[in-house]
Amino acid sequence: MGWLEGSAVLVTGGASGLGRAIVERFVDEGARVVVFDRSKDKLDGIAADLKGAVRTVSGDVTSFADNVRACTVAEEEFGGLDTFVGNAGLWDFNRSLLDTPADALADGFDELFAVNVKGYLLGAKAAAPLLRRASGSIVFTLSNAAFYPGGGGPMYTAAKHAALGLVRQLAYELAPYTRVNAVAPGGLATDLRGPDAMGLADRSLTQELPINQILTEHSALRRAVRPQDAVGPYVLLASRESVITTGTVIDISTFGIPQRRPPAD
Ligand SMILES: NC(=O)c1ccc[n+]([C@@H]2O[C@H](COP(=O)([O-])OP(=O)(O)OC[C@H]3O[C@@H](n4cnc5c(N)ncnc54)[C@H](O)[C@@H]3O)[C@@H](O)[C@H]2O)c1
Repeated sequence: MGWLEGSAVLVTGGASGLGRAIVERFVDEGARVVVFDRSKDKLDGIAADLKGAVRTVSGDVTSFADNVRACTVAEEEFGGLDTFVGNAGLWDFNRSLLDTPADALADGFDELFAVNVKGYLLGAKAAAPLLRRASGSIVFTLSNAAFYPGGGGPMYTAAKHAALGLVRQLAYELAPYTRVNAVAPGGLATDLRGPDAMGLADRSLTQELPINQILTEHSALRRAVRPQDAVGPYVLLASRESVITTGTVIDISTFGIPQRRPPAD
């Protein structure tokens, strides 16, 4: 019997990278999952691979109507919604304040905040009535950038700090009916993209950075992290084991742990 047997889940950005790993693991744990993403190709890929276990919704998390549409699919197909995973995100590819032209900074901010912050807010708004009915919960994907500098440029770091604010405020507002928590992963080798307004929509983190090498050399545990390695805390937070847990972030980034040199044997 899985940890999430019979539960209904919606994952935004669930067709790629970390979101896809969450969907696959949740299905393994017995959940039925609505995968909400704007990439039709990637949605087709996950639908083909997971067959009947998922429903896919093509849409944009910055649109309230699209978020409502995704929640409606969960209600109609699965009878409700137990967990909303807000996960779709963009990265700013470490573009710094001084090196970024002002117009790119302004437009990039609007696009990145619309996905990484407004997308979470509107998703929570759309899901809240169903989650209340199910005594369910929200799990947001944060990042080491929700706590520390250097995991992106100022736009990404500010957006993840803002999403941390959403965890705390929504945990306060939605109590005692709906729990709100988050997971903060560190670097992951995924297809993470950036704002179109900055010419970063077709760039991918994995193409841009030797992310596995960076993690192996610089993270406390000195190992590359696969998206599948980061999903356990989502299962825990979504499950009944976390029935008294709200307003909490599980930080699995290891960025708060200084490196030990030489490495321990
Ligand atoms: N990759 C990393 O190193 C890393 C580290 C920490 C946190 N994160 C966070 O993990 C989350 C998932 O990112 P990922 O690394 O798996 O990247 P990814 O690009 O592989 O997956 C993100 C998915 O979100 C979708 N998406 C983007 N904008 C959307 C929109 N407006 N509407 C609907 N769907 C949209 C994309 O199509 C994609 O399928 C993000 O919140 C990211 O900030 C990533």
